[in-house]
Amino acid sequence: MSHLIAIDQGTTSTRAIVFDVKLEPISSAQKELRQIYPSPGWVEHDPEEIWSAVVATVREAMSKAGIGAKDVAGIGITNQRETTVLWDRSTGKPIHNAIVWQDRRTADACAALRAAGLEPAVKEKTGLVIDPYFAASKIAWLLDNVSGARSMAERGSLAFGTVDSFLLWRLTGGKIHATDATNASRTLLFNIACGKWDEELATQFAIPMGILPEVRDCAANFGDTSPELFEGSIRICGIAGDQQAATIGQCCFTPGMMKATYGTGCFLLLNTGDELVRSHHRLLSTIAYQLGGQRTYALEGAIFVAGAAVQWLRDGLHLISRSSDADELAKKADPREEVYLVPAFVGLGAPYWDAEARGALLGLTRNSGPAEIAKAALEAVGFQTRDLLEAMHADLPTPTDTVLRVDGGMTASALAMQFVADILNAPVDRPVVMETTSLGAAYLAGYQSGVCADLAGFSASWQLDRRFVPVMDAASRARKWAGWQAAIARVRTRCP
Ligand code: G3P
Repeated sequence: MSHLIAIDQGTTSTRAIVFDVKLEPISSAQKELRQIYPSPGWVEHDPEEIWSAVVATVREAMSKAGIGAKDVAGIGITNQRETTVLWDRSTGKPIHNAIVWQDRRTADACAALRAAGLEPAVKEKTGLVIDPYFAASKIAWLLDNVSGARSMAERGSLAFGTVDSFLLWRLTGGKIHATDATNASRTLLFNIACGKWDEELATQFAIPMGILPEVRDCAANFGDTSPELFEGSIRICGIAGDQQAATIGQCCFTPGMMKATYGTGCFLLLNTGDELVRSHHRLLSTIAYQLGGQRTYALEGAIFVAGAAVQWLRDGLHLISRSSDADELAKKADPREEVYLVPAFVGLGAPYWDAEARGALLGLTRNSGPAEIAKAALEAVGFQTRDLLEAMHADLPTPTDTVLRVDGGMTASALAMQFVADILNAPVDRPVVMETTSLGAAYLAGYQSGVCADLAGFSASWQLDRRFVPVMDAASRARKWAGWQAAIARVRTRCP
């Protein structure tokens, strides 16, 4: 029992990583996930493809590490959050593709609920805003648009889950229908103050309570994998949404500590301890983790497009052939050019929550070219991070000294991370272990199975790779920030 396995089911890929009990990564396997765009603004995944990728990557990572089921103390699952799956309890078959967190098909339904005045009560209970991002309106869409779904739900033969919950059901051979508190906190149906599903909210979204999974701690016994999957059973001991798992992997266990993960989007979480801080600046209050029945809360800022802007440079504009080339191209930009990219490709997340906004490229001159656009894409990440941090400081009466711990693929871009430090005027710390999401999931499994240290012991193992220190002068920072605010104002369609 000297190993742990993290399953990281993300938006664009599925990964399995084998760790030893000192939480050193030993082996990994990864499969890309097909993105399905049935209509503008719609994004789906095939749950069967997700499932096959999970089984295949776990098997491959185990085989590379030369271990069998008996060598594994536990599995931790971490996942893209909010993405919604409904499946038939009798067959385990999904009734439709998963509706992905980025999907905007329920924008009108959400606008109608806001217009009906529901938002204050929803916010009070869930810490969230009414937006297509979260699961509830996606569930309602599936119930209303898949033939027979609503009657199945009413008969009790349908199950809802975020991706963790669907995988748990499959891994345990249909024995366990559960999730953890962090994933539940992203549905718009979960009261985060008392840690329970809310019947009134379920009624408002017209969702039968019987489809909802049981909610457990992040470190808990979630059941055993079916023996035929990995030649022996392995206990599933941890679940957390990917941003919460990264918060754990970054050891942000003390109130005031915060991390930003730059993946497809960017998610900044600030630990607020056992205090549920209510945002007055359109941030989210959410559960950072729940251990031993104790909830630790966070303020969260969610940006929908961060690394995805670099993917757009690569796949949409063909300006680069690899994401890692963005820095080199951006370095060639004429410093006198001030081009702004507002990457509102799927609307704007926090703090604007404008599902109808669309992207824009502003400040172009005849001299602007690929290098200036690449630089603007990298800088957009910094500007959006500052949008979130400004809102966080406005929400917290006594802001703590800001040090931002960063992780995710985009932190490999030194140019982007330096710009984050410059525009925030705050240090940005990149850890040695960049796989913080998987690390967090593995740690939860290790903590539950008793092979890893407590939170304090784990915190002591966090190691700095590089600190980005701000070097930009105050006047440039102010000018650029004003330019970004003007650019944002041009794309917004509503003021909440
Ligand atoms: O809330 C969505 C988030 O969990 C997605 O994260 O890393 O899959 O882009 P990622």
